[in-house]
Amino acid sequence: MEEGHGRERLEASFGALIDDTQGHFDREEQAMTASGYPEQRQHVEQHQAFKAKVAEVRERQRTVRGNIPTVEKLEFFHDWLIGHIQGTDSKLGEFLRAAGHT
Ligand SMILES: [Fe+2]
Ligand SMILES: [Fe+2]
Repeated sequence: MEEGHGRERLEASFGALIDDTQGHFDREEQAMTASGYPEQRQHVEQHQAFKAKVAEVRERQRTVRGNIPTVEKLEFFHDWLIGHIQGTDSKLGEFLRAAGHT
């Protein structure tokens, strides 16, 4: 793969990841606000930490020579998403179901 194209594709992937994640987080956060979810602050802090980490990796990717190892990025995103969905999000889901918001 030619490096210039690799970079463009990575940039596009990061952009898409950030847009998708933002939309998803926004919907969850709206549901938390609408239902008066008591653990909203902690949950939103996790979303913010994830967005900050993605932005940091994206910035490093933009500025370093060569690429950050793909495996490093994928492992972080994968581990975070699995952990967040199985723990934090499923707790929110249970609350919303119990409160009749779904
Ligand atoms: Fe989620
Ligand atoms: Fe979430």
